[in-house]
Formats: sequence, C-alpha cells, structure tokens
Amino acid sequence: MAAKNNITFKCTGCAYIAPKWLGCCPSCNEWNSFSENNAQHTFSPSSKKGLSSNRNEIVELVSLDTIITSQQERLISGINEWDSVVGGGIMPGSLLVLTGDPGIGKSTLLLHIANKLAMHNRVFYFSSEESLEQVKSRAMRIKTMHTNLLFSDQATIESILATCQASKPDIVIIDSIQNCFFSETHSFPGTIAQIRETSFALMRLAKEHRIAIIITCHITKEGFMAGPKTLEHMVDGVFYLQCEDRWNTRILRSIKNRFGTINELGFFSMTAEGMEEVSHINSYLIDESSDAPGAVLMSTLEGSRPLLLEVQALVIPTKFGIPQRVITGLDHKRVILVAAILEKYLHIKLSAHDIFVKIAGGLKMQESSSDLAIALALLSSYFQQPLAPKTIALGEISLTGMIKPVKAAEVSLKEAQKFGIHNMLIAHSQNGSYPSAKRLKNVYQLLEFFPHT
Ligand code: TYD
Ligand code: MG
Repeated sequence: MAAKNNITFKCTGCAYIAPKWLGCCPSCNEWNSFSENNAQHTFSPSSKKGLSSNRNEIVELVSLDTIITSQQERLISGINEWDSVVGGGIMPGSLLVLTGDPGIGKSTLLLHIANKLAMHNRVFYFSSEESLEQVKSRAMRIKTMHTNLLFSDQATIESILATCQASKPDIVIIDSIQNCFFSETHSFPGTIAQIRETSFALMRLAKEHRIAIIITCHITKEGFMAGPKTLEHMVDGVFYLQCEDRWNTRILRSIKNRFGTINELGFFSMTAEGMEEVSHINSYLIDESSDAPGAVLMSTLEGSRPLLLEVQALVIPTKFGIPQRVITGLDHKRVILVAAILEKYLHIKLSAHDIFVKIAGGLKMQESSSDLAIALALLSSYFQQPLAPKTIALGEISLTGMIKPVKAAEVSLKEAQKFGIHNMLIAHSQNGSYPSAKRLKNVYQLLEFFPHT
C-alpha cells in the first residue's frame, strides 16, 4: 500500500496526512481511520486563499498609517453578564466559541442573547443539533420569539456559507459546530478534521463579511476537550460555561479573548424560564459564610470583578501515619508554605496535624493575597476559636513572617464594605484609607485574635 503517483492517505479523525496507509493514526491513535486523500474542496486548509494560486505573486507591503480603521460599534445584548465577559459586547467580524458540557445551557443562553441582539441586528441561528420544533418549544418556554431572529436547521457548511454571503446578517450562531460538516470532506461530523475545516471556513466568512459568529462546541461526555482545544488558536474568543451546583449557578468564563480581558466571569442561574443573570453573586457567597472556627473571608479579582470567598480550614491531630494535606480550590504549595511559616514563628505543631483547606462554593483562588486568610483559618481551627463574624483578610505573608500588601486590594475592600463587612485585616503598609481595618505587620500579631491560647 505504499504511496504511488503522489497519493497520500488522510486520517478521517484528525486529518493527519501520511505518505502510506497506516493501521493506527500516530496523531490521534484512531485505528483504521486512513483513506486515500483525494478530497479537494475550496475551503480545505491546504487550498487557503492565496496559497494554491498566485503562489509567486509579489505582494505590496504597506505602512500602518495608510490603513483606515473604522471605530467598531460592539454588539451589545443588554445581558450584562454576557456583555462584560465578551469584553463589552461582541466585536463585529469576530468568531467566538461557547463551550461546555452537554446540557449545561449553551443553547438556552445563546437563544436569550440572540433574541436580545435581534432587536437591533439581523441574527441567523443555525440549529444543526436540534429540529426547529425543538428550538421553538425552547423559545416559547423562555419567551424569546423576536421576529428578526431567523432559524434554520441546516448543517451543511457550504449552504450556511452561501446563505450568509448572500444575506450578510450581522450575527450568525452555529449550534453546534460538531454537527456541521463539509459535504465533500470524507470524515464524520464532529471529528477533529471536520471541526477544524468548518471553523476555518467560518472564520473567513466572519473576517471577509464582518459578520460576528458564535459557535457552540461540546466537551464530550468523557470530558474530552479536543474539539474546543482544536479551535482555540483559530478563533477570537473562547468562553466556557460551567455548572456550580451549589446555587444552581452557571459560570461563564473567558478563556481567550482577543477583544477583552480573560478571566472575566459571568454568573447565570438556570430557572424554569431559561437563564437568568445573577449580578449579585457576592450576596450568595456572603450569605453562606459562617462564623465558625476555621472560616475566614477573602477576596479574589476575577478579571475586573471582585469575588468574596470563604476559606475554610480544619486542623486536627494526626491519629496515625503521615499527616494529611487535603487542599481544594487553593494552591497546594501555598497552604503548605503558610503552615510552615506559622509553625516556625508561632511554634505551633501543625506538622503533627492533618490539614484540610477549601474554598467554599467550589471556586478557585491561586493568588498570594490569600496567605493571610489561610493563616487565620488554620489558626482559628487549630485553637478552635472563631474570628469576629464576617472578617475579611487580605495580605501576602513573606518567608520571614512579615505581612505584605496586595495589589488591587481597593476594589476588593470596597466590595466588602458594600456588603457591610467592616472587620478587615490588612497589611500595615497597604495603601488606602480604611478606618475600620486592623493593620498587621507580622504573623506574631495573629495570636492576638485567639485570646484563649
Ligand atoms: P441546553 O441549553 O439545551 O444545553 P446545551 O445546549 O448546553 O446542551 O439546556 C438543557 C438543559 O437546561 C436541560 O437539562 C433543561 C434545562 N432547561 C431549564 O432548566 N430551563 C429552561 O428554561 C430551559 C430552556 C432548559
Ligand atoms: Mg445545545
């Protein structure tokens, strides 16, 4: 089966090209996936515009001041949690991916957004995954039936491209990319090869016709990120919708955004009438915080948004074997480091204790500004004495036991004040005026909060 007359073989799973037929693909490890590579069509990456023809053409280079830029009006939906995560509205001509587990609410969220955007824009919704009856029943349920929002269940990408080139809508939604296919490509919808090629074609459509395109892409049941990952380098933005079971909340996270900042978070709640914005997420977090020993509030900046989180610690003497360290939502090494600092300077035998530390609500925090809160939570559990109710601590701890200021504390502390939190513990040299805050220089001062030692 060796290659003759320039015949190559292509994996139908990942589009890997081999000079001879192979039983197992070295790229995606799929068996029996190779077939003769004789498929040629307009949008295959190998026949990109400018590559196949005019290969030797001399191009004219220009200086940037000769380029006229138009001020792009972003497409604002009015759903703030979405608009802020995408960077203040969708940029015309951008290609965005919304990803997440099946059933997480991608279609529902997009239907809400499409419906709002349809008030001022022409929006085409290609629902390749569901029939129009299914889409209608969802639209009726969540009351998103704007007449400017037009639907099709077309899944062939050639037809979608031709329709959009002819009608030039402002926004196109493809739900989902895994169900779309190039009819001329000899691989199944949803394979890496199809996802790559259809997305590439959509990217060109977006750029050439200044159409904003949002595509949905599932993470498969096994948690396989291959689909969304394949697209990441190609598209302008990747947004990940996650579930937070505790409050029945969906978190929208920006993973990549060429037109905004990453790590922005948006919060939604899945209700019987669709996805509702949750703009007061901190009130959920604060309401759930406890005044028990081992609990301390702290804050993290997710993008531009301060989140008030509760760190909880449980410190108990080790009964047998090596002391356990179970840490969830925080950097493992950071907690170990803080425990070592406390042991060194305060002579507390944490090394003979099991330590469990977590962030309430399944959220995550990696920053060094959590040091002080971790230290206080550990001490509070160790001494079995609670701190004053609703105490927030923000500070980094150096290896020498000094408490250092943290960046952007102002936003976090303002947010805390908004929720009536006035017990603040911050570094001595922290900038800003916080009359109710107690300023700390070093870890020795932490013992003052636990008088019964
Ligand atoms: P869906 O948007 O279809 O998810 P995805 O597109 O990510 O696969 O959401 C499906 C789930 O959401 C389904 O379990 C039903 C639930 N749901 C509600 O709870 N309320 C609603 O108003 C709607 C439309 C769906
Ligand atoms: Mg869906």
